[in-house]
Amino acid sequence: MADSGDITLACAQLWKVFGEGDLAGGLGASGAEAAALADSLRAEGHIVGCCDIDIEIKRGEFFVLMGLSGSGKSTLLRCLSRLTEPTAGRLTLDGEDFLNAGPKALMDIRRRKMGMVFQHFGLFPHMTVLDNVAFPLKVQGVGNGERENRARQMVSLVGLEGREAAYPHQLSGGQKQRVGIARSLAVDPEIWFLDEPFSALDPLIRWQMQSELLRLQNLFHKTVVFVTHDFIEAVRLADRIAIMKDGRVVQIGTPEDIVLNPADAYVSEFVKEAPRTKIIKVSQLMEPVEGDDAAEQGLDPGMTLEDALTWSAERGGTLSVTDTAGRTIGRIVPERLSAALSGARLD
Ligand SMILES: Nc1ncnc2c1ncn2[C@@H]1O[C@H](COP(=O)(O)OP(=O)(O)O)[C@@H](O)[C@H]1O
Ligand SMILES: [Mg+2]
Repeated sequence: MADSGDITLACAQLWKVFGEGDLAGGLGASGAEAAALADSLRAEGHIVGCCDIDIEIKRGEFFVLMGLSGSGKSTLLRCLSRLTEPTAGRLTLDGEDFLNAGPKALMDIRRRKMGMVFQHFGLFPHMTVLDNVAFPLKVQGVGNGERENRARQMVSLVGLEGREAAYPHQLSGGQKQRVGIARSLAVDPEIWFLDEPFSALDPLIRWQMQSELLRLQNLFHKTVVFVTHDFIEAVRLADRIAIMKDGRVVQIGTPEDIVLNPADAYVSEFVKEAPRTKIIKVSQLMEPVEGDDAAEQGLDPGMTLEDALTWSAERGGTLSVTDTAGRTIGRIVPERLSAALSGARLD
């Protein structure tokens, strides 16, 4: 596990076994051995929530945990924030051993460095919007005036200006989650944990909330750990996705890596639904070439397959890819674009 400066949160060989009272051996196994150990633990009646997880989350990264219900996403998120104690493994926060943090340090880290948003909002029903948002600041001991100012800023940031005095039962699901988001951001956390924040919302509201989240992330550049069972949501939001199954991570990659090269049949099932043309990038399809000066502007390596197809339909023939300095960095034949479109493997 590298503890280099740009890694905020990392875990290695992390396990969570529920009902661990009579765990026989150590849980140090990894790879195929770990999978076998998890199977035998299950056969003995244990519930394996997380099995041998290795993840490194970079500062400012939007990291998504995706998988079917029961695959261990929430358990992993809770272990990463130490809301749940891992059974075994290592966990570091900003390069420091996070599992070693005592109760006081842990509480302090949670209050100051971590923001949490949950599916069912978790708002205080007897408190107004403003008081809900101000609550984490009150816990931190921030004085009245400053607390209110900051809470008002947050409420307006999530588009709820004018609703400060409303109570949660007077708000729609989307509005409640906006309050949840404002509250989680009030203390300006370093790491933002969101566990299926939009799963209870209607599709259209969900789409709007994703857009909102992307807007906020562009403003704040938080390190984000976001849980969803919706692959399309994952692809839309993530810098990288870890796909989970039976407590294990079966693939980690950028949305475009995963869509282009799903690791197994389980991942392929999710990938089938994904809008390939909006995800796959020119840089993944081109054959790299030495950087000569280009005769004319070519495709941009960050362009999506969709845009490249439009371009290719207009020009025909082999297409060049050029960098911002106008040098040719690759070529693509149109057949490769259509192969990527049809879902053929492109190793
Ligand atoms: N507190 C708990 N006690 C016992 N088993 C649990 C507990 N929390 C989760 N589990 C089990 O761990 C597995 C993973 O659950 P969870 O992390 O909630 O999945 P997900 O969030 O992907 O739906 C499931 O089998 C679940 O029943
Ligand atoms: Mg869950």
